[in-house]
Amino acid sequence: MSTHGTIQLDVHLTGTDAGSALRADVARGLTATPKELPPKWFYDARGSDLFEQITELPEYYPFRTERALLRDSVDDIARSSGADTVVELGSGSSTKTRLLLDAFTRTGTLTRYVPQDVSESALRGALDELHDAYPDLALHGVVGDFTRDLDRLPGADPGGKRMIAFLGGTIGNLLPVPRHEFLTHVRSVLAPGEQLLLGTGLVTDVDTMIPAYDDAAGVTAEFNRNVLHVVNRELGADFDVDAFTHVAVWDADNAWIEMRLRAGRDMTVHVADLDLDVPFTAGEEIATEVSSKFRPEQIDAMLTDAGFETTRRWVDPEGRFALTLATAV
Ligand code: SAH
Ligand code: AVI
Repeated sequence: MSTHGTIQLDVHLTGTDAGSALRADVARGLTATPKELPPKWFYDARGSDLFEQITELPEYYPFRTERALLRDSVDDIARSSGADTVVELGSGSSTKTRLLLDAFTRTGTLTRYVPQDVSESALRGALDELHDAYPDLALHGVVGDFTRDLDRLPGADPGGKRMIAFLGGTIGNLLPVPRHEFLTHVRSVLAPGEQLLLGTGLVTDVDTMIPAYDDAAGVTAEFNRNVLHVVNRELGADFDVDAFTHVAVWDADNAWIEMRLRAGRDMTVHVADLDLDVPFTAGEEIATEVSSKFRPEQIDAMLTDAGFETTRRWVDPEGRFALTLATAV
C-alpha cells in the first residue's frame, strides 16, 4: 500500500557494485577485438548533465519529438492504461515524465511513481523536484541497472496495476540479444494485464539521424568521450581523452547509429586498477553505443516475442518516433 506524498530511495547499485561491474566491463571490452565500452558508463553526474544538454540541441530531434508526441497522446495513454503506479526505467531527470504524471493525475488513477536509474545523482535531483511539484504523490526511487535489477522493483499495490514506461528510445541502446532478454525480463516481473509504454526512435532519413548524434557544438562528442574520463577517474587509467575523436555512423544493415571513439595516434593506455596495458594503433576505434531505430512491425514483433501484445501506438507526423502501449499477456 503506498502512502501519499512519501519519498523513498532504494539503492540496489552501490558505488562498490558499480565499481566491480565497471572493472569487469573495461577488462573485457578493452581486450576485445574490436574494443568496446558499454554505454551505461556515460552517465556519471557529468555525463547525465551532458545528456541533458544534448536534449536541448537543435539537431537532437528524438527528445523533442517524443515530448511533443507525449503531449498529444498522454490523455489517451492514461485512459487506455488506468494504472495507479507508473514505473520508469532509465528515468534520468524525469522531465518528459511530468506529462504522463499530469495525465494520470487527471484521470484520477495515479498514486505512485517509481523512477529507476543507474545514475544516483540524476535520480536524487529528479525526486527532489518531483516532490515539490507533486506533493501528494508517493515517490519511490530505485538506483539500479535495468539489465539486472528488475526483480527488485516494487510490486503492484493490492488490487493495483503498474505501467512500466521506458522512454527516450533507450531500448535502442541495447543490442538485439540483450534487448530481447531485457524485454522478456520486463514481462516476467509484470502480471498479465499490466503494461509497458515503450518509446522508440523510428528509421528516418540519414541526414536527420546523423547530425542528431554528431552535433555542431560538439556536445555529443563530449558525452561520448566522457566514458574515458569515467574510466580514468574510477580505475586510475591514463587515457589522453583529447586524443580520441567522436565518430557517429549509420549502419543501414543493422538500422542503428553507432558511436565510436577513434584513437588519433598510436598509444598505450595503462589502466592501473586492472594492471592492464591497452595498445591502440592510430585510427583504431572503441565502440561505445548503438542507437537502434525501428520500423513499426519490428516493434510489434519484438514485443510479441517477449510476451506482450501491442495495445496502441502513437507516431509523430514526420514518422520519426513511436510510443507503443503494450499489455502483458
Ligand atoms: N528517459 C530519459 C533519459 C534517457 S537517457 C529521457 O527519455 O530523456 C538514458 C538514461 O538511462 C540515463 O538517465 C541513464 O543514466 C540511464 N541508464 C543507462 N543505462 C542504464 C542501465 N543499464 N540501468 C539503468 N539506467 C540506465
Ligand atoms: C539515451 N539514448 C536514448 C540516447 C540515444 O539517442 O540513443 C543516448 C544518446 N547518445 C548520443 N546522444 C544521445
